[in-house]
Amino acid sequence: MIGRLNHVAIAVPDLAAATGLYRDALGASVSKPQPLPEHGVTVVFVELPNSKVELLEPLGEGSPIGKFLESSPAGGMHHICYEVEDILAARDHLKAEGARVLGDGQPKIGAHGKPVLFLHPKDFVGTLVELEQV
Ligand code: CO
Repeated sequence: MIGRLNHVAIAVPDLAAATGLYRDALGASVSKPQPLPEHGVTVVFVELPNSKVELLEPLGEGSPIGKFLESSPAGGMHHICYEVEDILAARDHLKAEGARVLGDGQPKIGAHGKPVLFLHPKDFVGTLVELEQV
């Protein structure tokens, strides 16, 4: 059911420092910072030949990344995103398999302007999973 790895998201306490690390030490191609207030993050996209990494810094009060950084102040992997062709069919299949879909179970428009859902990390070996319809 899942397709390509769309991105790995890493929560970071200092976006400029993390961007510099990926650009200078790792030699990656990085985007300009993009504030996404509706998601409570500022994001930098790291373009890789076969996928993307997203560096997420908290933006505003109540950012989901802010809570994450309280328990992991140095930053860390926040979620992994897999592509699916039909997000509603994927959701219904996962619910039938006993997985918990976060929120109200309705897809939201994600950082790339496409419908996304998140799955409970406790149901996926400790990893927050995002599904994106492509
Ligand atoms: Co994501």
